[in-house]
Amino acid sequence: MRLLVTGGCGYIGTVLTGQLLADGHHVTVVDTQWFGNHLEEHPDLVVLEQDLRDSRAIPLDGIDAILHLANIANDPAVELNPELSWEVNVLAGQQLADLAVRYGVRQFIYASSGSVYGVKQEDEVTEDLALEPISVYNKTKMVAERVLLSYRDQMTVHCIRPATVCGLSPRMRLDVTVNMLTYQALTDGRMTVFGGRQTRPNIHIGDMVGVYQHFLAQPDLPTGCYNAGFENLSILEVAELVQAEIPAEIAVTESVDPRSYRQNSDKLLATGFMPRHGVSDAIGDLAAAERQGRLNDDETCHTVRRMKQLGLAEQSRLAATR
Ligand SMILES: NC(=O)c1ccc[n+]([C@@H]2O[C@H](COP(=O)([O-])OP(=O)(O)OC[C@H]3O[C@@H](n4cnc5c(N)ncnc54)[C@H](O)[C@@H]3O)[C@@H](O)[C@H]2O)c1
Repeated sequence: MRLLVTGGCGYIGTVLTGQLLADGHHVTVVDTQWFGNHLEEHPDLVVLEQDLRDSRAIPLDGIDAILHLANIANDPAVELNPELSWEVNVLAGQQLADLAVRYGVRQFIYASSGSVYGVKQEDEVTEDLALEPISVYNKTKMVAERVLLSYRDQMTVHCIRPATVCGLSPRMRLDVTVNMLTYQALTDGRMTVFGGRQTRPNIHIGDMVGVYQHFLAQPDLPTGCYNAGFENLSILEVAELVQAEIPAEIAVTESVDPRSYRQNSDKLLATGFMPRHGVSDAIGDLAAAERQGRLNDDETCHTVRRMKQLGLAEQSRLAATR
């Protein structure tokens, strides 16, 4: 298939693009490359350093399916510049979907977020529950889903709601819980856990990529939203899993954020998807990479720090990347 991957130079996008090429697809990546470009050259890969908001410049001729990952991708990064965040996470997605329909793209897969539910009292957080997003990031995800699903009569739209992703990528993120705690344990011998009792769902990066492959391979799965999170763990439980692999102290400090999130992914499992990895695998992979000298920390591993460094907190519109 001929695929467009937006955000293909990001943490998930880099691993996903490599896998799609290995599966025999032709891939075009559109990415501003705020965190660099770690994609290896490949005869079936075209990488465009381009802003999604410049939608008319996106080559859609002959594209069969779009995997739309390019967003400002966590709560504090979105808060840096809410106007920029709404433009990228919602308006640009809408323009992309609109063009996709005009070019006859058959399938549009969107990387939404499991955080769209907000805080739920229900033990089983399933797709049919009302969305009560709290942060601006969560709100952009919810509105983007609704906008994209309005094209459901013209193309198949799969909105995936992933849990927090963990594990290794060439564009490493050290600002997501499992990766952050593991890196602290590896480098300081000590993990700082805020609160600790808050529950978070998790998904290994290999399974995250597997979910996207699964939907590409089954474009006839019904249009709609699908949770993708398999281990609901408290932050303290994550720290204890890290401790089982890497000797380290756990320091628990008070948290101002007592929110717990959980996810039930039975709808996805019922389509035949089976997760193959877990949080412990991600911790083991990071530890092995550190031992081999392949795990480095710099500004590009921290979304907010990098966006501030690029001046994205102050700027808006296309000036942000020009
Ligand atoms: N990482 C997670 O735990 C997680 C969990 C749930 C959902 N998601 C979603 O998955 C997607 C990918 O997440 P990630 O962790 O790989 O984030 P990431 O920040 O590493 O990747 C996003 C990529 O999009 C690019 N980008 C941002 N704005 C752009 C624009 N205007 N035009 C073109 N490119 C642009 C960035 O340069 C970056 O390479 C995001 O939509 C995110 O919200 C991630």
